[in-house]
Amino acid sequence: MRLAEAFADEVTGRYRIERAAAVELILSRWSRRPDLLAAAARARSPEEIRRLRVYRDAASDAKREVYHRLRRYRRAPEDADAALAALCALDADAPPETRTERARAVALAHASVAERAGGLDAFCAALTACMGSPATVVDVGCGVLPLVFRLGASVRQWWALDRDPRAIAALEALADDRLRPVRWDLAEGWSRAGLPRRCDVGLLLKIVPVVARTDPALLTTLAATPADRLVVSGCRAALTRREDIERRETAVLLRFFAVYGLRVVDRFRTADETCFVVERRS
Ligand SMILES: C[S@@+](CC[C@H](N)C(=O)[O-])C[C@H]1O[C@@H](n2cnc3c(N)ncnc32)[C@H](O)[C@@H]1O
Repeated sequence: MRLAEAFADEVTGRYRIERAAAVELILSRWSRRPDLLAAAARARSPEEIRRLRVYRDAASDAKREVYHRLRRYRRAPEDADAALAALCALDADAPPETRTERARAVALAHASVAERAGGLDAFCAALTACMGSPATVVDVGCGVLPLVFRLGASVRQWWALDRDPRAIAALEALADDRLRPVRWDLAEGWSRAGLPRRCDVGLLLKIVPVVARTDPALLTTLAATPADRLVVSGCRAALTRREDIERRETAVLLRFFAVYGLRVVDRFRTADETCFVVERRS
């Protein structure tokens, strides 16, 4: 136990995982290694165990698992599924506060909203302010943010597009004339998305760096988002390691703007995100 706790301290120094969760994960992985348990029982001190090959292998395995878990959008998939089921089970006449509470639980089970949790209200206020008074918005790779973002009074249609079926199922539970979720992949192109010809604002929140990394050919489709003004953001802190990635993400965004002729007209930062408002060069 003490060995696992000491290793958890090492892991939490490097990765964005809470200590209790790290201890639990490490103990669960190590308890499945009879060779490690036997070596630990024989060893005379923690230092002696740490020198063993079997310990070093177990430590690398636990670190890899921490990393993979942190990279997932839903870190506790069972809890996320339960929150989604509770939201989808809502009756049409459920009280608004129950609706809000369940929507928030689903949103916070997703890493993209969870990492903003501390400054969510400030982020939503800054986003609202920089959008002006749009009637139509297209939110590309929306994830579950629309579950916790209060649509402004001017908004008539908020098109929420994502390829993630769970995000779209959650948004469908709140869909109405204004919020219009669509399960859609960038690779399908704009003609399939079913949007109006042009929206007033396009949101590309934390998606440009993801696509630049995973499928750079699709950046052209992102840049062709049918909106006159775009709000584009990147992360300031890595999802996994305790690492400042603002410079790297900002460089990706600035390159995207330069390649696709987008002019920065405004910018703001929150504790975890750096955001740009851009318009097309005429
Ligand atoms: C980092 S999350 C950001 C979510 C949301 N915009 C936010 O800021 O909370 C990136 C989102 O992009 C979506 N995504 C990634 N690649 C996509 C693609 N090719 N087509 C549609 N959605 C995609 C993912 O499913 C995920 O929901």
